[in-house]
Amino acid sequence: MPPATVEIRHTPEQAAEALRADALTGLTSMPKWLPPKWFYDARGSELFEDITRLPEYYPARAEREILAERAPELATITRPSALVELGSGSSVKTRLLLDAFSANGAPDGTAEGTPSGILREFFPLDVSEQALREAAHAIAETYPALRVHGVVDDFTSSLAVPDGSRPRLVAFLGGTIGNLLPDERAKFLTSLRDALDGGEWLLLGTDLVKDPDTLVRAYADSQGVTGEFNRNVLHVLNAELDADFVPEAFTHRAVWDERQEWIEMRLRAERDMRVTLPGIDLEINFTEGEEMRTEVSTKFRREHVASELVTAGFELHSWWTDAAGRFALSLARATP
Ligand code: AVJ
Repeated sequence: MPPATVEIRHTPEQAAEALRADALTGLTSMPKWLPPKWFYDARGSELFEDITRLPEYYPARAEREILAERAPELATITRPSALVELGSGSSVKTRLLLDAFSANGAPDGTAEGTPSGILREFFPLDVSEQALREAAHAIAETYPALRVHGVVDDFTSSLAVPDGSRPRLVAFLGGTIGNLLPDERAKFLTSLRDALDGGEWLLLGTDLVKDPDTLVRAYADSQGVTGEFNRNVLHVLNAELDADFVPEAFTHRAVWDERQEWIEMRLRAERDMRVTLPGIDLEINFTEGEEMRTEVSTKFRREHVASELVTAGFELHSWWTDAAGRFALSLARATP
């Protein structure tokens, strides 16, 4: 098998243009806001990996627990020929899936014509080219029989599911769907359903509603790592738009919105400030105490997930949680 291939559907120029548009919209809004996808330059991706190791940040461990326990069952139910992973990042959790699908791939007597139940292809998709290349090559090395084709894309704006062999299983893990606002989420799920054939699969990770204390601590850790991650978006704007934010003049806030059932991350200006952003020809002011929203991380209930899936044209096949009931994996099938 040749080494992994990587295809670029979203160029650095397109990413730069998208950042300029988002910064202009968000920073001229009242209140100001920025979309969370701009946290993830190389430093931000590393900080997020650090977050997943924090004692307070349970979602990563809870999801891993479910994957480890349910991967064999998932393989038996779905028997995918291709695995597509959205927002694959380092693809570490993916190995739990790949191991189960490979173990399931022994000739089983059903292999007439196109063999089914043997995973042949893995398509990791991510906005970060560097993370994607590293992950794709590392996976290709461990699984020499697998065709690994990475795609650099921003799947939140335009979703094209790679045209792999059927049936495909699309995995969207980590609870990242919670970063989308309700209307964005509806659009995303509908376009994902439209990109699939009836009977193909979605594996979706969602963090669950729980006591506000646990939630807030997961997003306001005692070591301040999440604060550094939050302020990283200002470093990104400084680097990409030649802006002059002073990140240290902003403090990290994590707030539970009980009505929306989401955690909101904000940056609070600790003094009056004027910021110039030459890259978008903009000057803005912050007043002391002003808060700018940088992320929502929505928490779900089973009925909420099931109804959004049905509305988009999926049916919920299985609902799996960790033993403590903190996080859920939903296995859904595109309705014919
Ligand atoms: C990677 C989007 C799942 O929302 O929990 C972690 C990002 N933000 N700590 C999340 C994040 C603050 C994370 N996701």
